[in-house]
Amino acid sequence: MTNDTILIAPSILSADFSRLGEEVRAVEKAGADWVHVDVMDGKFVPNITIGPLVVAAIRPVTKLVMDVHLMIDDPIKYVDQFSKAGSDLITFHVEACNDPGGVIKKIRSNGKKVGISVKPGTQIESAYDFLDKVDMVLIMTVEPGFGGQSFMVGMVEKIEKLHKKFRGFIQVDGGINAETAKIVTKAGANVLVAGSYVFGSKDYKQAIMSLR
Ligand code: DX5
Ligand code: ZN
Repeated sequence: MTNDTILIAPSILSADFSRLGEEVRAVEKAGADWVHVDVMDGKFVPNITIGPLVVAAIRPVTKLVMDVHLMIDDPIKYVDQFSKAGSDLITFHVEACNDPGGVIKKIRSNGKKVGISVKPGTQIESAYDFLDKVDMVLIMTVEPGFGGQSFMVGMVEKIEKLHKKFRGFIQVDGGINAETAKIVTKAGANVLVAGSYVFGSKDYKQAIMSLR
């Protein structure tokens, strides 16, 4: 993993789940860098998606970095399971726990890279205490819970602020397409999650290329 280029992480939330393995292979072939896995518990967000079983199922299918985005309450409880399932990087929400430092330690103790995420209504400053302990900060550019929502342009300021003080991965997630990709990369984002834009396109390679 390097920081000197823009990395593209298609979110499998918008893939065809009846052909999940093929979909993952297809985005790998199309030039994706990471596979983004959206885990939702119906509590932290009003939607339920997938768990460690699905991460384990797609792990043998791809060499890409398995980028697991936990949108769940009390994430520390599930770090071991998602690690064993084959995650490379585990991101949790600062709003979802009382002790983000403890969650970071737990993820590290499993030998994984760590991301911390902020929802649109959460100030970026709430991640500042942890910047020297994480590999990535994920700035949500939609309200977490569902794919296919519109990009919130008000989040650009957070990216710019973070970019001034953090040299790691700055990931954005929600409403990313060829147009919004330009805005966020100019502001300093270097890992772009894209769900409906990639999986909703006829040509995954073309879609991924248009985001860089
Ligand atoms: C939203 C998820 C996103 C979602 C993005 O809660 O975290 O990863 O899949 O979907 P698009 O790219 O369609 O906005
Ligand atoms: Zn996500």
